[in-house]
Amino acid sequence: MDHKTLFCLTITSCLVFFSASFPNGQLNYNFYDGSCPNLSMTVRWGVWAAFQNDTRIAASLLRLHFHDCFVNGCDGSVLLDDTKDFKGEKNALPNRNSVRGFEVIDSIKAELERACPSTVSCADILTLAAREAVGLSGGPYWPVPLGRRDGLTASEKAANEKLPSPFDALENITAKFAANGLDVKDVVVLSGGHTIGLAQCFTFKRRLFDFKGSGKPDPSLDSSVLSSLRSTCPNADGSNTKLAPLDSQSTYSFDNLYYQNLVNKTGLLESDQALMDDPKTAAMVNSYSMYPFLFSQDFAASMVKLGNVGLLTGKAGEIRKKCGSVN
Ligand code: HEM
Ligand SMILES: *[C@@H]1O[C@H](CO)[C@@H](O)[C@H](O)[C@H]1NC(C)=O
Ligand SMILES: *[C@@H]1O[C@H](CO)[C@@H](O)[C@H](O)[C@H]1NC(C)=O
Ligand SMILES: *[C@@H]1O[C@H](CO)[C@@H](O)[C@H](O)[C@H]1NC(C)=O
Ligand SMILES: *[C@@H]1O[C@H](CO)[C@@H](O)[C@H](O)[C@H]1NC(C)=O
Repeated sequence: MDHKTLFCLTITSCLVFFSASFPNGQLNYNFYDGSCPNLSMTVRWGVWAAFQNDTRIAASLLRLHFHDCFVNGCDGSVLLDDTKDFKGEKNALPNRNSVRGFEVIDSIKAELERACPSTVSCADILTLAAREAVGLSGGPYWPVPLGRRDGLTASEKAANEKLPSPFDALENITAKFAANGLDVKDVVVLSGGHTIGLAQCFTFKRRLFDFKGSGKPDPSLDSSVLSSLRSTCPNADGSNTKLAPLDSQSTYSFDNLYYQNLVNKTGLLESDQALMDDPKTAAMVNSYSMYPFLFSQDFAASMVKLGNVGLLTGKAGEIRKKCGSVN
């Protein structure tokens, strides 16, 4: 019996699996079976160990993968340090003092270099790490097709332009997803990643005091949540980097309470709560708020799509020896 058949007998989400079966002609589930058979166990162990020390790391790894894929595709470009030839993505506005998890990827990579040198791409490690991170947080599991190669360059400018901002209008966010082959359903589903992790006060503070010059708070924010956020993020620059949970109901648990929050007007970011402003996205939010299993299934499917954005495969790019620099 082959892997696919076995998977389908043992896991209920067969549909997700088959729709993800042929994502890209050049990726496959057995890519490293001969060359690095212990890959997935090594990534699982590495993410698990990091998670024991720091529960938030799961959220950080998920976000790091998303930010990788949106700029130059899922090619590990977000992991590259600045060089004399380019300013990379690490210091772009959405990333600087914000994205985390580089050390975890670097340490898994170092272990893999010992076991199977110059074999596994950083882009694949990051894709697998995001999958493990969601699983450890109580979320769904999905098969990850492998064979991504690492990019040779990174661009601060591209990261600034292509990553969504919490101040972007929904249509602008949708456009940024569409540029990566992702549709409005993927926007709603993948925004559910905000069921885990934290955000700094400056990313939502204007909702609390002077929303769009009104002198008042954002009317689409629940008043009791407003007062609690005001105490975390007082109206002074000193509070800008303080942290608040994206999903205060279950900060590190990957569940559908993110969507219940939006229904209850307690979403944290403007871009989260805005999903309730458009009838089409609001209908999806409502259904994910009621059907956690539907969210799990759709999240897994959208993550596979995200992991297939703009790939380098075959002989393109390279297999980096260290994730922070090209060979
Ligand atoms: C839809 C457009 C999105 C916007 C505007 C957005 C914006 C943000 C912002 C502003 C933060 C807080 C960063 C900080 O304060 O340092 C954040 C955190 C986070 N985002 Fe998003 N995001 C989006 C989509 C996504 C997607 C698609 C995923 C993954 C599937 C994701 C996963 C996360 C996670 C897990 C965190 C918490 C990270 C941590 O605690 O380290 N986001 N996002
Ligand atoms: C596979 O990796 C795990 C985690 O790093 C490790 O504990 C185990 O010994 C490895 N197995 C083999 C056969 O190398
Ligand atoms: C444990 O997590 C903290 C962040 O909470 C981090 O600064 C530290 O480097 C981590 N330690 C290890 C051994 O990973
Ligand atoms: C959204 O995109 C439009 C068209 O590109 C642009 O004119 C507008 O300024 C953008 N809005 C925001 C809030 O970024
Ligand atoms: C949303 O509001 C409903 C009704 O007040 C409540 O039962 C539910 O617990 C709330 N959900 C969250 C996630 O706060």
